[in-house]
Amino acid sequence: MDPVQVRLMCADDLASAERASALTFLDAERSTRRVSDPEVEPRSAVASKQWIDRMRFFLTVDPGGCWVAVKEDTGAGEVVGFAMSQNRDPLWFLATYGVLPGHQAQGLGKRLMDAALDHADGRPGIFSSSVHAGATRRYRLAGFSLHPQMRMVGTVDRSTLPPVDGLREGRADDFEWMDRLDRNLRGAGHGPDHGYMLGTMRLVVSRDTTKPGYVYLDDRGQAALLAAAQPETAQKLLWEALASSRGETLVNCITTPNEWALDVGLAARLDIGQEGYIAVRGMPVPAPYLASGHFL
Ligand SMILES: CC(C)(COP(=O)(O)OP(=O)(O)OC[C@H]1O[C@@H](n2cnc3c(N)ncnc32)[C@H](O)[C@@H]1OP(=O)(O)O)[C@@H](O)C(=O)NCCC(=O)NCCS
Repeated sequence: MDPVQVRLMCADDLASAERASALTFLDAERSTRRVSDPEVEPRSAVASKQWIDRMRFFLTVDPGGCWVAVKEDTGAGEVVGFAMSQNRDPLWFLATYGVLPGHQAQGLGKRLMDAALDHADGRPGIFSSSVHAGATRRYRLAGFSLHPQMRMVGTVDRSTLPPVDGLREGRADDFEWMDRLDRNLRGAGHGPDHGYMLGTMRLVVSRDTTKPGYVYLDDRGQAALLAAAQPETAQKLLWEALASSRGETLVNCITTPNEWALDVGLAARLDIGQEGYIAVRGMPVPAPYLASGHFL
């Protein structure tokens, strides 16, 4: 019998899957780290808990997209690989994907990806890709286009912050128009993901209904997901994010159709870097839009 089974994930796998994820990404980040990058630290207890909470949410909303590779000969069923994907109406996204270093390059990643893509059932797909050679190889072979992403890093020069008006705090009764906006930008609303994000982050929205847009800000004031109908609204929302950042900040997931974000970052005296790819299949790169790594 094959010692590693690829099967649907269940809640009992969460702790073991989290351990596999923490080890896999520590190893991947160490091996792809550039000399100018900070040292890679093991995942904190808080981040481990957040990972488990998020995966439990995905398991509740769309369990058919959540797959694990399990080594059954260890008795407890140790998770050695995982592909967590989700369908949201007509869109599929991959939230996270990994195989423990000692099990890589043996075809497990392909088996997991094939299972997740079967669940996609031909839907357009999107996710944020690492630079890991095994990952990019797997994605391109599955037909995804890899669009390089830029990021802006540094400490905001607060003397550059412009006055920003026309924004307000977002609430659950904003989700309906936010989903309409998302459908125009990426083909599908975030649906239940909005509830999860509002529970864990601050939401800021544009007050002008003819110029809709929103941004989720994480606990460090960084833009975790930004969507807008016009680049001008997107820039306003990004300025709001930069104003609420503390210390070193990061604006992530900037593709070339989103150069409006580079212009804001440069004006705030942040530096342009390059990191990973937005992978899409059957859809264009969304703009004006800064994707969330977890919810796309
Ligand atoms: C991406 C990942 C899940 C793929 O899992 P895997 O079990 O290695 O996948 P497979 O063996 O099915 O396929 C990977 C392909 O890349 C190759 N490959 C794997 N590791 C590689 C490496 N370090 N360098 C170059 N090629 C590599 C394999 O030979 C295989 O190609 P082939 O099928 O043509 O022979 C796994 O490599 C991983 O966890 N990487 C680190 C975490 C990561 O970056 N995850 C993706 C986040 S977006």
